[in-house]
Amino acid sequence: MGKTILVLGATGTVGRPLVSDLLSRGHAVRAASRSGNGPDGTVGTRFDFADPASIEAALAGADAVFLMAPSGTLDVLGALTPVVEAAARRGTKVVMLSVFGVEADDSIPYRQVELMLARRGLPHVVIRPNWFMDNFHTFWRAGVLAGTIRLPAGDGRSSLIDARDIAASAAAALSEDRFDGEAFNLTGPEALSYAEAAEILSKAAGRPIRYEAVSDEAFIEAATAAGADPGYAGFLAAIFHPVRENWTAAVTDGVERLTGAKPRSLATYARDHAAALKG
Ligand SMILES: NC(=O)c1ccc[n+]([C@@H]2O[C@H](COP(=O)([O-])OP(=O)(O)OC[C@H]3O[C@@H](n4cnc5c(N)ncnc54)[C@H](OP(=O)(O)O)[C@@H]3O)[C@@H](O)[C@H]2O)c1
Repeated sequence: MGKTILVLGATGTVGRPLVSDLLSRGHAVRAASRSGNGPDGTVGTRFDFADPASIEAALAGADAVFLMAPSGTLDVLGALTPVVEAAARRGTKVVMLSVFGVEADDSIPYRQVELMLARRGLPHVVIRPNWFMDNFHTFWRAGVLAGTIRLPAGDGRSSLIDARDIAASAAAALSEDRFDGEAFNLTGPEALSYAEAAEILSKAAGRPIRYEAVSDEAFIEAATAAGADPGYAGFLAAIFHPVRENWTAAVTDGVERLTGAKPRSLATYARDHAAALKG
């Protein structure tokens, strides 16, 4: 039976394909964004993490909520805690978009939100995706178009994941109760170095794209010059440390367990986003 599901970040990288998946499963979707304008087929819902009153109004009548922090959020705990508390008061199920690897350290803010969900006794599912393939046509797109992706990733490998597979996983967790109480580490099908990824992107774009390993300092300087918040640029540089250490190289069956389908390869991602990668 269709549910009423509130999707935070509904106009974002994961939110857009998630909204489509939920609509095709027959759910009523309340699409949250600051403008209150949702994609076609949804009920647009005004929601701002900075406005606590908007949280209660957005949650009213929802059977479940997709909880996420937008990219660039520095105070993740501060942003997500009021939503968890409001969901706990109402008994609303929560599917939380967390981050790959955070279970290694309980002091990480995303992990603290995960633990809060468990403590509150809410029906909930946590999904922890690895680095998104989609970063190539969003955050790293300027480098892709210029022909050199400069990241402080060293030679480390990551099992990059397509946002459409994160969305499909979230849609399954929101639709069904049998995953409640579980956490899923979500990855793509193979661990690739950024040099290997650049070769795959080159084929799809029809021109050479190379990867250059840079220092944290060079990355922060370039990201800040391109308009990133210096605090967030520093945070991003810090989270490349696990990449250099190959802690992001594990391949899991999380997507398949949730969706029944294997995750997309980088070659498929690159083919489907060739226009954005070509410029
Ligand atoms: N990128 C990666 O490689 C990666 C890897 C693992 C985990 N993650 C996690 O994934 C999450 C990001 O997912 P994503 O890329 O799908 O997000 P995203 O595209 O950055 O999300 C943007 C969405 O957030 C909404 N939003 C922005 N500011 C808001 C505010 N103040 N109040 C309410 N809504 C707001 C935007 O809506 P409007 O602008 O319309 O208001 C939009 O719908 C982060 O938590 C990140 O840590 C990312």
